[in-house]
Amino acid sequence: MLNKKVEKKLVEQIEKEGYSSSLYLAMASWAENNGLEGTAQWMYAQSDEERMHMLKIVKYVNERGGQAVISSFDRPPSEFKNVKNMFDQVFEHEQKVTASINDIVEVCLNEKDFTTHNWLQWFVNEQIEEEASVSAIIDKLNLLGDHNLYLFDRDIMGLRGQQPASME
Ligand code: FEO
Repeated sequence: MLNKKVEKKLVEQIEKEGYSSSLYLAMASWAENNGLEGTAQWMYAQSDEERMHMLKIVKYVNERGGQAVISSFDRPPSEFKNVKNMFDQVFEHEQKVTASINDIVEVCLNEKDFTTHNWLQWFVNEQIEEEASVSAIIDKLNLLGDHNLYLFDRDIMGLRGQQPASME
């Protein structure tokens, strides 16, 4: 049976991953409407990944005898200042998600739920990758500057593009 404190944290995380998926979907839509096809493709793929993260937690909670309650998600912004600002927001958001995952890790240790602690390591590693990939994109944007947005957009296209979301 899933520890109640751990369950509560995981249910909160379901909401956070769901919001992340909506946020990146909103960014994808904005990019698409602004002619940034590559950026939109990246954001759509990111949104799918976040939904996959959410599902992964839903299934784990239910499998362990908890109840994966689904809440409504906050409405994400629909306007973004520019591409650089948008990716800065992604980076900031991912740092918050990392902190939130670390928080669950801490609760697992306090509650001696070593099974969930072990299972959570996938998310710990995923956050390292996500922060690194967004940080690399921001470096690229800084290098190219605003006047080379077309080049940036072509460059980012296919970076993760059509890859199907993986549950591994
Ligand atoms: Fe699911 Fe980007 O953290």
